[in-house]
Amino acid sequence: MEEITVQVNVSQQEYKIYIGYNILDTVIKHITQSPYGNRYAVITDSTVKTLHAENFAAKMKKYNNDVLLFDFPAGEIYKTRETKQMLDDFLLDNRFGRDSAIIAFGGGVVGDVAGFVAATFMRGIPYIQVPTTTIAQADSSIGGKTAVDYPQGKNLIGAFHHPCSVFIDTITLATLDERNFTSGLIEVIKHGLIRDKNLFDFFNRNSEYILSRDHSEHARTMTDLMRKNCTIKNEIVAKDAKENNLRKILNYGHTIGHAIEHLSGYSLLHGEAIAVGIATEAFFSYKLGLSSHEDYIEQRNIIKKIHLPVTIPGEIKNEDIMKLMLLDKKAKAKQPEFVLLKQIGETFLFEGGKTTTPIPEADVMSLLKEFRQTKS
Ligand SMILES: NC(=O)c1ccc[n+]([C@@H]2O[C@H](COP(=O)([O-])OP(=O)(O)OC[C@H]3O[C@@H](n4cnc5c(N)ncnc54)[C@H](O)[C@@H]3O)[C@@H](O)[C@H]2O)c1
Ligand SMILES: [Zn+2]
Repeated sequence: MEEITVQVNVSQQEYKIYIGYNILDTVIKHITQSPYGNRYAVITDSTVKTLHAENFAAKMKKYNNDVLLFDFPAGEIYKTRETKQMLDDFLLDNRFGRDSAIIAFGGGVVGDVAGFVAATFMRGIPYIQVPTTTIAQADSSIGGKTAVDYPQGKNLIGAFHHPCSVFIDTITLATLDERNFTSGLIEVIKHGLIRDKNLFDFFNRNSEYILSRDHSEHARTMTDLMRKNCTIKNEIVAKDAKENNLRKILNYGHTIGHAIEHLSGYSLLHGEAIAVGIATEAFFSYKLGLSSHEDYIEQRNIIKKIHLPVTIPGEIKNEDIMKLMLLDKKAKAKQPEFVLLKQIGETFLFEGGKTTTPIPEADVMSLLKEFRQTKS
């Protein structure tokens, strides 16, 4: 198991990310030797419970840890205040106290909800992330953003609360369905695009091993990929934990992507919508003269190579995308904000070193129209 030490500037809190293949036994020994609390609540969802978490909790108990397992139904629709309330009640009813710790064991939904519970229970208790989806391992388990969805919108109520440790075991991805596995890879590609050409090139060179999950090189490649990926995500978060400027580059592809995700009625997975968002925002970067045509094509090609979409679904109207982008909490003065690329591995810095730029509504509308007409 490899480890990266992360210094989070704002809170001066340091935490470690452990990455490896088939490391859960070692993780349990590590937790037993260096406890994070006197009692543990392993929080998971109904799917991950039977696949991995039950086994994990049973082994934790074997090592004499005081552990209770709690699950809620799988799916984004359960990332709610009701689920959080249920979890708060569970902890209170079972007399968990300030000396306890939470283990968030699952995908991004589990990580976000369990992290939010940890942020507020007894005014904040420690928690550990054990992410089990590509998105959670590549993105959501790192950075300390926790939240639940509200009827008014996604991730509206939450907190910044950093985990004490993140344990990434790439073996858990073996049980993940193909669509969730592949679509989450877009966040890895995004990290390469915005910050590290080497990561992008590594992905391109090794895409066959990454995608062929029964290939003998798959496990080693995924562990390498996650290590490189997490180093980049960490570097960005550590420099700007509260998203004042630099951290915003993580939203590349997300201004358009979030709107498309919502307008698809969530029939597109997050990663699929972000793939379209990246293709579109790459086109904007090229058309606005900030990056080259080759870089735009290269971005499209890698998305196509991993079989994710690069075109906006026909039934989604530009006017509706525009409306939603203006509603986004990041939009300012009635103009959507965009992160744009200078070249692969680097985003464009605008006046005063700003990482985002507003684009007037009329320009966005004509760029969207032109994007839909392009063939390559
Ligand atoms: N906090 C952040 O910084 C951040 C960043 C990106 C995404 N997110 C959030 O993450 C969520 C999306 O994450 P996700 O795609 O992991 O969703 P998810 O947690 O719903 O997982 C997707 C599906 O895979 C199942 N699953 C999880 N692990 C499995 C495994 N090992 N084997 C088989 N099935 C498994 C789950 O039960 C679920 O049905 C969204 O709510 C999004 O807002 C948060
Ligand atoms: Zn994302």
